[in-house]
Amino acid sequence: MSSPIWHPFTQHALTPDATLVSRGEGAWLDTANGRMLDAISSWWVITHGHRHPKIVEAIRRQADLLDQVIFAGFTHQPAEELARALVEFVPPGLSRVFYSDSGSTAVEVALKMALGFWKNQGKARSRIIALEHAYHGDTIGTMSAGARGVFNAAYEPLLFDVVRLPFPGAGHERQSLELLKAAASNAAALIAEPLILGAGGMLIYSPDVLRDMAAICRDTGTLLIADEVMTGFGRTGTRFACEQAEISPDILCLAKGLSGGSLPLAATLCREEVFTAHYSSDRSRTFFHSSSFTANPIACAAARANLEIWRQEPVQARVAALAQAQESRLARFRDDPRFGNVRRLGTIAALDLKVPDAGYLAQVAPDLMQFFHAKGILLRPLGNTIYVLPPYCVTAAELDLVYDAILEAGGKFG
Ligand SMILES: Cc1ncc(COP(=O)(O)O)c(C=O)c1O
Repeated sequence: MSSPIWHPFTQHALTPDATLVSRGEGAWLDTANGRMLDAISSWWVITHGHRHPKIVEAIRRQADLLDQVIFAGFTHQPAEELARALVEFVPPGLSRVFYSDSGSTAVEVALKMALGFWKNQGKARSRIIALEHAYHGDTIGTMSAGARGVFNAAYEPLLFDVVRLPFPGAGHERQSLELLKAAASNAAALIAEPLILGAGGMLIYSPDVLRDMAAICRDTGTLLIADEVMTGFGRTGTRFACEQAEISPDILCLAKGLSGGSLPLAATLCREEVFTAHYSSDRSRTFFHSSSFTANPIACAAARANLEIWRQEPVQARVAALAQAQESRLARFRDDPRFGNVRRLGTIAALDLKVPDAGYLAQVAPDLMQFFHAKGILLRPLGNTIYVLPPYCVTAAELDLVYDAILEAGGKFG
C-alpha cells in the first residue's frame, strides 16, 4: 500500500514518492537513494549542520529530566535561561519573549500583539501594512499578510485586507516609502522580512530602505514587526538582518534557526510597551494566545545549546567565510547568458535560470529539483530561481559540487 502521508507543498498526482531519509550529519543526509548534500538547510532551518553534538547532548539531557509541561502558570529552567540569553542576543530594546512552535505562529503572535497593543489603549488602529511578494507563513493571518497568489487563492475569502507596499527593490524605494508614509499614521503595524524576501524569490532590498521604513514607523507610532524567521541566526551575514540597518524592531519573530534547526520552536520578542499594554488588573486585557507545546522544555534546551554554540564557537567567522565562498562561486555565473539576477546576501546566494516559462508553477522547478536530486544535491528552486542556502559547516569542496550541478543545469534547461 502506498504511504498515507499527505506531504506539504506537494502535488501528489505529479510528484514521485517522497525520498526516505534515515540520518543526517553536518551538511549531509543519508537517503534511500544515497547520500544527499543539504544545500537548503532542510527548508532553511539547520544553521550549524545536522546533529551538532552540543545540541544533541542538550536534547538528551533534557529528555531525561522533563519532556513537556503546561506553560500557563508554570515555567522551567530551559525556557527561563533561553529567554534571558535571547534578550541579550537580539537587537537591543526587546525585553519580553513569547514562545510558540513555528514561524507561522511566531508571526500570528506578532500580529495579535500589535492589535492588542492598540485595542488595549482604546485606539482604533488595526490595519496591517505588508510588502509585495512577502511570505510570513501558511495560517490564515500569515497568509493575509503574505503575497496573494496561487498558494492562497482558495482561501482568499477568509483573508483580511492589508496595505500592500511595492517591493522596495532598486528604483522602487521612493514609491514604497511614500505609500508607507501615507498609510502608517493610522495603521497598527508594518510587517516585513528584513533585507531579503525568502519564499517570494530571494529578493533583496537595501538596509537604507529598511532604516527609512523603521524611521517612518517610529514617527507615526506604527509598530514595526521584523519577521526574521528565515533571516535570523546569521543567514544574512549578521546575527539578524535588522543589524545591517542599525535598527531594532518593536516586535521580532524567530523560529527555524532558533534551535539550530533541530526541533520546532519559535519566539516572538517585543518591546516593554507592547507587554505593558497587556498588563492590567483587568483580565480582558490578557494576551489570549497559546499552543499546547508552548516553550517545550526539550526544544528550549536545544535552543539554549544553540546560543551557547554562538557564544563558544567562531560561528560569525564561519558565516563570513561561507558568504565569501558563495560570492566567489557566483562569479562565473555573472556573465553567463543563461542566468540572470545573480545575487547574494550574506550566506544566501540566488540566481535565475532564463527560461521562457518562469512562474512558480513552471515545469522547470520540479525538473530542476529532480535533476539536482539525481546528482545527490538537495536544492528546491522557487520557480526558475535557484538558491543555495546551506548550513554553515558546508565545505568549499561541497559548495563546488552544488555549483557544478547548477552550471550543468544551465546547459540542460537554460
Ligand atoms: C520569513 C518567513 N516567515 C514565516 C515562515 C513560516 O515558518 P514556518 O514554516 O515555520 O511556519 C517562513 C517559512 O519559510 C518564512 O520564511
